[in-house]
Amino acid sequence: METYTHTFNYHVFETELNLPLSDRKLFQKAKEAVKTSHAPYSKYHVGAAVRLSNGKIFTGSNQENISFPVGLCAERVAVFAAMSVYPAVSIESIAITAVADAFEVAEPVPPCGMCRQAILEYEMKFNNAIRLIFGGNSGKVFIIEGMRNLLPLAFEEKGLVK
Ligand code: THU
Repeated sequence: METYTHTFNYHVFETELNLPLSDRKLFQKAKEAVKTSHAPYSKYHVGAAVRLSNGKIFTGSNQENISFPVGLCAERVAVFAAMSVYPAVSIESIAITAVADAFEVAEPVPPCGMCRQAILEYEMKFNNAIRLIFGGNSGKVFIIEGMRNLLPLAFEEKGLVK
C-alpha cells in the first residue's frame, strides 16, 4: 500500500475590499444577485456571478421549490445561463456569496458538491481552470484557482468523452 497526499492552495483576503479590482467587481455582482434569490424555505439567499473570457458577466441566485429537491443553487443557475447564451466561450471566474435572514453569513460560502461537479464540467469542456471567488456577506474572501482543487479525484471518465 502507498499513501498519497493531496494539497491545494487558496488565497485569503481579509475583506472584499482587499480583492483585486476585477474580482471585487464580480463579487459585487454576486452580492447584487442575492436580491433575486427565491428562498422562502431556507431563508438563505445565495448569489453567483460568472465572468466569461469574452468579458460578459452572468448572474444567478438560488431558486427553491415547494418540492424541495426541485430547487437549484445560485452557481448552477448562473453557469447554465451563461453557457446557454455563449456555449463556445470559456468561463474565467465565478464569485459566490450569501445572505441569511436569521444570521450573519461571515464565513466564505463555497460551492456545494453538485455545483463543484457542474462547474468542473466546463473546466473539462474548455480545458481551463476557473477562478473561484467566495465570501460571506461580511468577512474573509477566498480565491481558489481551479475546481480540481475543491474536487480531488473527480469523476472525469475519459471513455465517455469523444
Ligand atoms: N445553495 C446555493 O445556492 N449554493 C450553494 O453552493 C450551497 C447552497 C442554496 C441551496 C438552497 O436554496 C440554500 O442555499 C440552502 O441550502
